[in-house]
Amino acid sequence: MANREITRRVHKLREQIRFYDHRYYVMDAPVIPDAEYDKLFRELQALEAQHPDLVTPDSPTQRIGGKALDGFAPVRHAVAMLSIRTETDISDGGAIAFDARVRKELGLKDSDAPVEYACELKFDGLAINLRYVRGVLVQAATRGDGETGEDVTQNVRHAIHQIPLSFEGSYPSVVEVRGEVYMTRPDFERYNERQREHGLPTLVNPRNGAAGSIRQLDPALAARRPLSFFAYGLGEVQGDWKPETHKEILDQLDAWGFPVNGERGLKYGAQELVEFHRDIATKRDSLPFDIDGVVYKVNSLALQAQLGFVSREPRWAVAHKFPAEEQITVVRDIDIQVGRTGKLTPVAKLEPVFVGGTTVSNATLHNEDETRRKDVRIGDTVIVRRAGDVIPEVVGVVLEKRPAEVGAPFDLFRLLHGHCPVCGSAIAREEGGANWRCTGGLFCPAQRKQALLHFAGRRALDIEGLGDKLVEQLVDGGIVSTPADLYDKHKVNLQTLAELERMGEKSAVNLLAAIEHSKSTTLARFIYALGIRNVGETTAKDLAQHFGSLDNLLAANLESLQQVHDVGPVVAQSIVDFLAEAHNREVIEQLRACGVHWAEHQPRPAAVLPLSGKTFVLTGTLAALSREEAKERLEALGAKVAGSVSKKTDCVVAGDEAGSKLDKARELGIAVLDEQQFVALLEGK
Ligand code: IVH
Repeated sequence: MANREITRRVHKLREQIRFYDHRYYVMDAPVIPDAEYDKLFRELQALEAQHPDLVTPDSPTQRIGGKALDGFAPVRHAVAMLSIRTETDISDGGAIAFDARVRKELGLKDSDAPVEYACELKFDGLAINLRYVRGVLVQAATRGDGETGEDVTQNVRHAIHQIPLSFEGSYPSVVEVRGEVYMTRPDFERYNERQREHGLPTLVNPRNGAAGSIRQLDPALAARRPLSFFAYGLGEVQGDWKPETHKEILDQLDAWGFPVNGERGLKYGAQELVEFHRDIATKRDSLPFDIDGVVYKVNSLALQAQLGFVSREPRWAVAHKFPAEEQITVVRDIDIQVGRTGKLTPVAKLEPVFVGGTTVSNATLHNEDETRRKDVRIGDTVIVRRAGDVIPEVVGVVLEKRPAEVGAPFDLFRLLHGHCPVCGSAIAREEGGANWRCTGGLFCPAQRKQALLHFAGRRALDIEGLGDKLVEQLVDGGIVSTPADLYDKHKVNLQTLAELERMGEKSAVNLLAAIEHSKSTTLARFIYALGIRNVGETTAKDLAQHFGSLDNLLAANLESLQQVHDVGPVVAQSIVDFLAEAHNREVIEQLRACGVHWAEHQPRPAAVLPLSGKTFVLTGTLAALSREEAKERLEALGAKVAGSVSKKTDCVVAGDEAGSKLDKARELGIAVLDEQQFVALLEGK
């Protein structure tokens, strides 16, 4: 038997570890370094090994180890796990109809006060029931058919560190906590990345990941797929806890250490429900986990009891869904698209499907490896995902629905007979990469079009009005083949433009003006506009700042390029390759000859630029230059431009009608420049 001191130490260690676990897993705010934590954990393990009589089921050490099971034992729920009615009406009608039904059932008149609702998120995972006896977790069970679920206690212990094995404070002798087990998007991505590295199967989506993990018979495998949990209600309760509202329940669960999502609140009447739904919809894509809607619950438990149930659904709750971000549809064909740098992307042509709020008929398959790994074939039924503004993608195949006469496994080279589908040039697979490319370069009309669109883009030379329909016509009509052609009056003029489809005289004039206007730019934009592989906006800025002039950049070599902040061998090689093409150099010279220009400066390492280390804030309107231009000019001199005034601000540039930022600057005693002083500064005076 262990002596009192050892027993006390074991208790103390558990208490500490539980506290640190809660900080780490639930609050996402760790308070000690991992090494310290490991030390405590190992000490507890050692003491328990020496004194097996001290081991308890809720000890943190019980989260690891465990044997594989043959199957899951059935668990009959003490209180049935019901489902919620779903309002399929995705307009505001859903919330209004629900509130109207509740008011009618409660016999409320129009003149009565609005009903109080507890609103929360509808998590997209699976429901679980956690049974605690005297504050200790004794059983975790899935929902099953609502009456009988499966005993998944071991996996919950191993894979869901957010679920307390025990909790303290005053609690009823038996309490069942209900909530949703889910996988976060980052955990999902990380898991898939690791699987891919090892050539192992990946998960289709986080929800399948959570479901598969909780029903994994080997707890060691379950533990490798990290799961999370949000509590949203209760099952059986024995004892004298008598909460009066749903909010009170959630607050208590939170106090006991269960994760309760913070996006919840009390709302009054139908209009506020509608607003909650709308508010959450705007936040949906920034949440680190999937939700499929919101849930409204009558807050008062007495009113809930009065409302009761219809068949297996409570009358006091409703789920108000969002348009699904994933849908099932059929692949009719697989097309290959040619990108700006020749990258060949397989795209699934789909039976049109409504997903993420729009009708989708094309979804990217990313590249050959991904397509093969997912084994997507023509004729397959697939899951398509469209979340926010991200381009739709095929996330996986529903193999059970694969028809007998399905297409062959995807093989890009064979499909294209080794040639670019647009220009017929040979295709080549990049060394060590996953992508095939068309080797045609700017000879390939597809690459030419993409290169022109990139050149004219808002963050490049910003030629307003030069969109894809126009570029398509200009290239296909043989009018334009390089960016320099845009500035050639023999090629692009009122006459040639007026002959294009959907191009009136007025738009032609506007386009010519936009082209003219774009000639005055910055070196960084110019470099970015060239569309060099691996040179994004940030790298372009770094290059411009480092070299100061285009001629210096043109004279650079592999070695000197790698002196630039954040430029490694891969980026340097892309630049060298680009500049080694005589054709590219020619276009650059033609652009300069047509009058495309910018301010240059002497090359200086970033640290010694005149405004290095200084933070500026711009406010009000300047007469001579736009906000964006002012920002670029400052950045070219090494300054940082921030959006708001703080103690870290060195200088505020105040144009006309400067507002609160100027007041704040004065308050903090920060230097303020008017436009005249600012222009003088830019000119180095
Ligand atoms: S309450 C009697 N609240 O939705 C009401 N359920 O059909 C019991 N779900 O599979 C459920 N988020 O797992 C409730 N905040 C939430 C929820 C939620 C997701 C799931 C639940 C169940 C389904 C209900």
